[in-house]
Amino acid sequence: MASTQTVIRTQGVVKELPLGNTTVHALRGVDMEIFAGEIVGIIGPSGSGKSTLLGLIGGLDTPTRGTIEIDGVDISHMNEDRLTEIRNEKIGFIFQFFNLIPTLTALENVALPIQFARKPQFNPDKRAKELLTMLGLGDRLRHRPSELSGGQQQRVAIARALANNPPLLLADEPTGNLDTESGAMVMQALRDIREKSGTTVVIVTHDAAIAQQTDRVLTLVDGTLVHGVVPVVQ
Ligand SMILES: Nc1ncnc2c1ncn2[C@@H]1O[C@H](COP(=O)(O)OP(=O)(O)OP(=O)(O)O)[C@@H](O)[C@H]1O
Ligand SMILES: [Mg+2]
Repeated sequence: MASTQTVIRTQGVVKELPLGNTTVHALRGVDMEIFAGEIVGIIGPSGSGKSTLLGLIGGLDTPTRGTIEIDGVDISHMNEDRLTEIRNEKIGFIFQFFNLIPTLTALENVALPIQFARKPQFNPDKRAKELLTMLGLGDRLRHRPSELSGGQQQRVAIARALANNPPLLLADEPTGNLDTESGAMVMQALRDIREKSGTTVVIVTHDAAIAQQTDRVLTLVDGTLVHGVVPVVQ
């Protein structure tokens, strides 16, 4: 469960992106803190900077200004090699579009990142089977993505993100194209993982019902975190 150990701390995070001869102010100074074992939702209107913030936390990009600490280590000025190391060691990503490998079965898709881990902690097939079973897909191990429903594919993508037991899971609209029931199943799976492994989870979502199932919600409007309830415009 949530503790007081800080996993993510951002201070004054600004992201400016050049666009033609103008500059887009995607983030305008974000200060936030997320603790170990929390499930935190990030909501806000389209274009408010949610994916940009998640990408920076995950070391997929670096900020224009400000600092981002993961487990007390400042990643904001790291080079690509170090960022890759941090990502491999600590972070699981779930994106809206699953990016599963179409020619591989569910089991093989999940086992793959374990086979690629520098120091594998698990037997790939055994771990993949365990995770898929936990996510309700024990009877779909040999199915390829095209033989699975959208919700099932999303759960395979979650299992893959969890394959190497990352302490931090970052999800961008993980239920974006799922029906309510599949979305609830995904959220339940994330809570189970948190209970079992103490995983910290950050979820970007447009969906108020999903946000309600998190421990805490952060709201971004126009690149700034705001307090209080703000209507989310789709
Ligand atoms: N590569 C880029 N170059 C220029 N501007 C960009 C780039 N990527 C994002 N932006 C702009 O930065 C702002 C924040 O984008 P971001 O993708 O973080 O929004 P979001 O909150 O995730 O939106 P959505 O809910 O639609 O996914 C937007 O105004 C967007 O147009
Ligand atoms: Mg986005």
